[in-house]
Amino acid sequence: MNDKFVVKGLNGKKTLSGKIRVNGAKNAVLKLMASTILFEDKVELLDIPEIEDVKRMLEILEDLGVKIERKEKGHFVIDTSKAKETVLNREISEMMRASIVLTGPILSRFGEVTFPIPGGCVIGARAIDFFIDGFKKMGASVNFDKGAYIIKAKGKKLRGAEIFLKTPSVTATETFIMAGVLANGKTVIKNSALEPEIKNLADYLISCGAKIKGAGTSRIEITGGNLLKSKGKKYKAMPDRVETGSFLVLGALCADNLEITNCNPDDVEILLEILKDSGVLLEVKKNSILIKNNGKIKNKEFKSVNIKTKEYPGFPTDLQAPMVVFLTQASGEALVFETIFEGRLNYTEDLKRMGADILMLDPHRVLVKGPAVLRGRKVESPDLRAGLAFIIAGILAKGESIIDNVYLIDRGYENIEERLRKIGVDIERFS
Ligand code: EPU
Repeated sequence: MNDKFVVKGLNGKKTLSGKIRVNGAKNAVLKLMASTILFEDKVELLDIPEIEDVKRMLEILEDLGVKIERKEKGHFVIDTSKAKETVLNREISEMMRASIVLTGPILSRFGEVTFPIPGGCVIGARAIDFFIDGFKKMGASVNFDKGAYIIKAKGKKLRGAEIFLKTPSVTATETFIMAGVLANGKTVIKNSALEPEIKNLADYLISCGAKIKGAGTSRIEITGGNLLKSKGKKYKAMPDRVETGSFLVLGALCADNLEITNCNPDDVEILLEILKDSGVLLEVKKNSILIKNNGKIKNKEFKSVNIKTKEYPGFPTDLQAPMVVFLTQASGEALVFETIFEGRLNYTEDLKRMGADILMLDPHRVLVKGPAVLRGRKVESPDLRAGLAFIIAGILAKGESIIDNVYLIDRGYENIEERLRKIGVDIERFS
């Protein structure tokens, strides 16, 4: 399970070329899988990345009595009609933050749910108070016993409520959308998160009978009703915007020509604007982005830019680590302000060991000076997004890098080494 990647660096040469296809979005499909609990018939999901987090979510669902059929790669049929169990598998839920979104549909359908404090990447506190407070507002009782929350809806039925999120949380927004779908009456989520994955989830649920208004805005209204029916309508995963963004950074730093296909450029607009401002030549098409004749441009010709992570459509925290790698190469000084998670800059210590000039000002802010020559080192990925950033740094660096703890990268990126090899990266997996 604890594989390593060995990457031979290009020593600053921009030789990668070809096409790289973006996979289905992890943070969309995990929620879609959870939403199948709201359905009375089977749901067919297409273009599902077979990453570790998806496998864990399938295991949790199976444990709840859900039937899962894998028709072919990335194509699953999920049948929740026989599911009755309301206790989330503890071991798996503790590994993955996304498990918490199951609480909404389970509580809404069965009137109760038991779950442990969810785990996930070590990037900050990742509290769950919004979930607990919201369920109470929807008329549920909350008990905590032996490390697990036991939540019960009064009379086995949630009632609609007004829920104000103190921070626009992505998973809380998704959870209350799903909780509202089978609740009595109207649920209003205020200060809801705007991430495209939320609208993607709502759009599919609406197409199957849910009454949801305002997804993609900061006020969402859900009118409760009956179990949803897919009637054979298939869900096809939206492209992963974090993969898209990471490949853009990789392309800008290490490729001569690269075409990023199957992506939605609108979802990464802020990154495109920033990269263009710093001098990266990009051609944006409807579903692809081209980096052309980039080999002649030296990375030091790129200009530094300050970055502040924010909820969508601001700069995504999930792209902060790849962006820092970009900034280690650009000319000038950049302040990177991670506003969402207080533990999400710790990986910069390893980048410093590779030669980056980074000064940590406090847990939320670093100063990155470029350009710096990176040298291959042994590093350990603390979370999946920083893991991919280390791969990019390794490709750029002089010499060989060893990236440990590859399981974390596999949680979010399917077969990344094979996909990178196709564009010219020298990367091997060792068990
Ligand atoms: N927050 C609370 N209380 C809560 C919930 C959230 O205080 O009950 C705070 C968090 O501590 C954080 C902020 O609200 O400071 C935002 O957290 P949010 O709930 O939005 O994060 P999340 O839903 O746990 C999702 C993604 C993350 C992504 C963030 C931000 C999933 C499964 N995870 O996390 O993705 O970074 O939104 O966009 O959708 C990843 O994929 O690598 C990843 C970490």
